[in-house]
Amino acid sequence: MCGIVGYVGPQQALDVVIAGLRRLEYRGYDSAGVAVVSDSGIHTRKKAGKLVNLENELDFDPLPASHTGIGHTRWATHGAPNDVNAHPHVSEDGTIAVIHNGIIENFALLRDELIDRGVKLRSETDTEIVAHMLAAQMTESASLADGLRAVCQRLTGAFTLVVVHSETPDVVVAARRNSPLVVGRGEGENFLASDVSAFIAHTRHAIELGQDQIVEITPESVTVTDFFGQPVDVNEYEVTWDSAAAEKGGYDLFMLKEIAEQPKAIADTLLGRIDASGKVSLEDMNLSHGELKAIDKIIITACGTAYHAGMIAKYAIEHWTRVACEVELASEFRYRDPILDKNTLVISISQSGETMDTLMAMRYAREQGSKVLAICNTNGSTIPRESDAVIYTHAGPEVAVASTKAFLTQIVACYLFAMYLAQVRGTGYGESSSEIALELGRMSAKVDLVLDTSEAIRDLAIEIADARSILFIGRSVGFPVALEGALKLKELAYMHAEGFAAGELKHGPIALLEDGLPVFIVVPPQGDELHDKIVSNIQEVRARGAKTIVLAEEDDMSINEFASHIIRLPKCPDLLQPLVAVVPLQIFACEMATVKGYDVDQPRNLAKSVTVE
Ligand code: F6R
Repeated sequence: MCGIVGYVGPQQALDVVIAGLRRLEYRGYDSAGVAVVSDSGIHTRKKAGKLVNLENELDFDPLPASHTGIGHTRWATHGAPNDVNAHPHVSEDGTIAVIHNGIIENFALLRDELIDRGVKLRSETDTEIVAHMLAAQMTESASLADGLRAVCQRLTGAFTLVVVHSETPDVVVAARRNSPLVVGRGEGENFLASDVSAFIAHTRHAIELGQDQIVEITPESVTVTDFFGQPVDVNEYEVTWDSAAAEKGGYDLFMLKEIAEQPKAIADTLLGRIDASGKVSLEDMNLSHGELKAIDKIIITACGTAYHAGMIAKYAIEHWTRVACEVELASEFRYRDPILDKNTLVISISQSGETMDTLMAMRYAREQGSKVLAICNTNGSTIPRESDAVIYTHAGPEVAVASTKAFLTQIVACYLFAMYLAQVRGTGYGESSSEIALELGRMSAKVDLVLDTSEAIRDLAIEIADARSILFIGRSVGFPVALEGALKLKELAYMHAEGFAAGELKHGPIALLEDGLPVFIVVPPQGDELHDKIVSNIQEVRARGAKTIVLAEEDDMSINEFASHIIRLPKCPDLLQPLVAVVPLQIFACEMATVKGYDVDQPRNLAKSVTVE
């Protein structure tokens, strides 16, 4: 939530900052703003709505040349998304400008103190108080970093704060607690951003910032200290993907590009992890064989799409390892007093590695003595950094707000973990263990085949664009696929959509069925014990006049007479079917939103990285 950029160096700061914000707009797009520092002081421009509104404003009312700047794209928490509440916020004396990602929880108390001192607040935001507190603090502090350090000690909650001061035009200072911030180290220039995509066009040298740390950048230096001014060791790394990976690459939409990248994302996530004999290798995950053997329960916590990946993982983990596995929404988990101990393994699944609910759940689990394994797509993000072990997915940067390729790679990483755990514990998963691992290796090519269904799915979206509601049903691993299909449709096409376990239909939801209501049905592979049961469910749906859109294996003819539409899936083992079955549903949601004229990559009210609870 909220994207942050800071720059200091020889280039025009505004150009660098705006280009960075364009890359970060996926994080929030309620408003955008910039501040530059020149010899004549701090100058800001800010505008409600998407970045383009700010760019138009800058054309109309340009900023002076400057080599130091900060910029912000907002996902509103405190205060409506209007021009006044947009960041940066400036102190009354005009010396300080602040941008912020997160929530300052003791904001009301601090605001009242400022009001008592006669400060006139202009906005409804929690951020503005930092500008006034810092301006007051600067009368006592030796440097901007010292001043920010003192202010941070009074704040509770989650924040990345980036500040500039009119009297030190070559300095940008930032603080980080519970919200993301990375430093980009360049040649004679340095950068700050919520994620590396904002500066990857300029440098691949990145520095992770830890909890409760302050960084000061000048053109020549990067200095990191803790909230008490002590120097800290930092982790410096090279970003392995290039800036082209974060571009649309000829596609109209990031989401279409990311759907098309799924075969590669799967192959990259599997690379080097399954050998020619089907043996899984995850030795670099950082959990010893002894620790894996001691596990007596697994709890998966995640949010949204990542939670659906966790639901699929449960089927595989329990089937292949015989270790009990629960899946829980991270936002519910730590508030219900879950039973955890040192033999519980908690798996946190997160694309961004920054989702606050997931982060808080994993911290809670570690406090209870449990080990935490992160399954994450973002190198150096908070969740893997604070976990005991990590399996990185290699989906590459996911820019569209709706998750697609990250989801498929999360499922793959969970399968790899389940297979590896079975291998280490000697539970095996039947004689077919190496065969199923090899089958997993073939899934990339199968997903590629499903992409060919796009044209027919586009026609289907046009045909049912006026539906009031759309249902999705499935059984076993097809159930989370149904939930994911419904979630995608809700978030992109703003339609009522529900996913159900097909067996539950007759316990209530069947009352929703009416003439012409579209129902997507995920049919398990033939030979699966649930196959015939779901064919019966299709008939029940059809008998009530609903339009049955059936996803079934390529040679499954048993469904033909009950299906209004058939989407064919390549053959694969039952547990692996979600990897192919979800793809048409992603394409469908994307096409439906396009037909309705909505912004697919930036749906309303959403943000890619949800760093507030
Ligand atoms: C849906 C979507 C969200 C995320 C959820 C968790 O398309 O993208 O539901 O899956 O916010 O995000 P991460 O995986 O970053 O923790």
